Amino acid sequence: MKLPTRRFDALIVGAGGAGMRASLQLSAAGLTVAVLSKVFPTRSHTVAAQGGIGASLGNMSEDSWLWHMYDTVKGSDWLGDQDAIEYMCRMAPQVVYELEHMGMPFDRNADGTIYQRPFGGHSMNFGEKSVRRACASADRTGHSMLHTLYQQNVRARTQFFVEWMALDLIRDAEGTVLGITALDMETGDVVALHAKATILATGGAGRIFAASTNAFINTGDGLGMAARAGIPLEDMEFWQFHPTGVAGAGVLITEGVRGEGGILLNSNGERFMERYAPNLKDLASRDVVSRSMDQEIKEGRGCGPHKDYVLLKLDHLGPEVILKRLPSIREIAIKFANVDPIKEPIPVVPTIHYMMGGVPTNIHGQVVVPKDGNPETVVEGLYAVGECACVSVHGANRLGTNSLLDLLVFGRSAGDFIVSRNLPSFVHKPLPPDAGDFSLARLARLDSAGGGERVADVGNELRRTMQSHCGVFRNEGLLAEGVAKVMELEARVARTSIGDKSRTFNTARVEALELDNLIEVAKASVVSALARHESRGAQARSDYPERDDVHWLKHTLWYREGNRLDYKPVHLTPMTVESFPPKARTY
Ligand code: FUM
Repeated sequence: MKLPTRRFDALIVGAGGAGMRASLQLSAAGLTVAVLSKVFPTRSHTVAAQGGIGASLGNMSEDSWLWHMYDTVKGSDWLGDQDAIEYMCRMAPQVVYELEHMGMPFDRNADGTIYQRPFGGHSMNFGEKSVRRACASADRTGHSMLHTLYQQNVRARTQFFVEWMALDLIRDAEGTVLGITALDMETGDVVALHAKATILATGGAGRIFAASTNAFINTGDGLGMAARAGIPLEDMEFWQFHPTGVAGAGVLITEGVRGEGGILLNSNGERFMERYAPNLKDLASRDVVSRSMDQEIKEGRGCGPHKDYVLLKLDHLGPEVILKRLPSIREIAIKFANVDPIKEPIPVVPTIHYMMGGVPTNIHGQVVVPKDGNPETVVEGLYAVGECACVSVHGANRLGTNSLLDLLVFGRSAGDFIVSRNLPSFVHKPLPPDAGDFSLARLARLDSAGGGERVADVGNELRRTMQSHCGVFRNEGLLAEGVAKVMELEARVARTSIGDKSRTFNTARVEALELDNLIEVAKASVVSALARHESRGAQARSDYPERDDVHWLKHTLWYREGNRLDYKPVHLTPMTVESFPPKARTY
């Protein structure tokens, strides 16, 4: 069936930091650009980022991009691609100064320079001591950034499609991506958006877990679209637990609290991180801190009536620091934990926060897949940036503040690359006659009345399964059972329905479509985790407790078709400097 069609030079799915940084580059260069978002752009999940953007400005302590690069490689447990990491860390000061010139309201030092705070895993002189590298706007850095980028995009005449959901990629017979099908969430209309370049910038998928710092919109839409179009997903076993989610609520308490001097305590009042990470202590990398907290709780030193959380103490910072640097944290603690951190510690637990894996790309944001012996053959017309992409700068564990940096650097570089291709001088390749049939069939199944399972029931079961089978510590039995349960759930997802179309809100249809994406992300994650027989970064296997560089220093690729796995080499060679060879990782 032929769909109504709109044409643009470039189309961006997602209006978070990465999407809007890319769109700004494109619109400013005069391309026609559409940005599609399920929510109003400034409500994208980037708005929730709190602590800062990593960049070696050296405003408050000596710093260098090479130290930043080393910390990022080490933080990634050597799975990050060192050429991409070098590119990101070198570009960091530039993208922060660009934001500053756009008007981003960073906190300031007395001399007018940008305020920087310490963050986990960031160090001076190759691990010697903590460094002040996180460029902060109080504890609302993502909020400031997203509003700055939105305003700049409005000025550059980017066209926003607000409350539209992307459904599927449109590919022609040669495999070139020619745009997407999309649902207008208000009217239920389905439209083909035809573009010469399509950028996925759909963010994370933390909503495959029951307890998450992620917004409800983080359902892995770009990953589902890529997987259904035959594109593999990379390194999906690596999910980051942020050490400090509010116990019982999951809301993020920024690592910036520990950057400002907050400490973690167990039920004996012990600062237990001194035992696990004697050098950086509470500011070790997230995987290390989360595992240490889990260990304390497992060994009976958790706090509260059920001994199932630890305490984040910050009252010793004094009201002045808390009110100036961490005002939203105080508000969150009062609202979600019923404690005022000026007087009492906050109960916290490790909570799912970030997906290190994603759609495989190169540093221009081009999606790359194995083909004809080349592990990184470009998929023409398709790009991915931000959390939904795997470039891979975070490897097996991301450092805090490197996500906002990743959005800015690779959003910008994808935009620049597309501009260099001079798209306005080309005509659109024709859409295939069956463009849209697949999406319409998916919608028709959902709308067929009666008989199907409830979307919410299947979704909740999926989240519970991932939480208990793909958590901080994993093993063969747990993961194998997890795979079996997720495969059963896949069959149930295919049987969901939303009933009579005329009596259903479009939000029900959107939730069902999101579940189609969540199940792909869950399968990729649990299947990849089961196969990786080692512990590296966020993948902690109690049955394979050591990192195994001989067999596993490689990226996983998961294909939807047949749940097949493949692997590709890690880029151990940076662009201009000597590589950092793998070594034992201590903090
Ligand atoms: O702790 C935080 O403020 C989170 C930052 C990040 O994930 O980079």
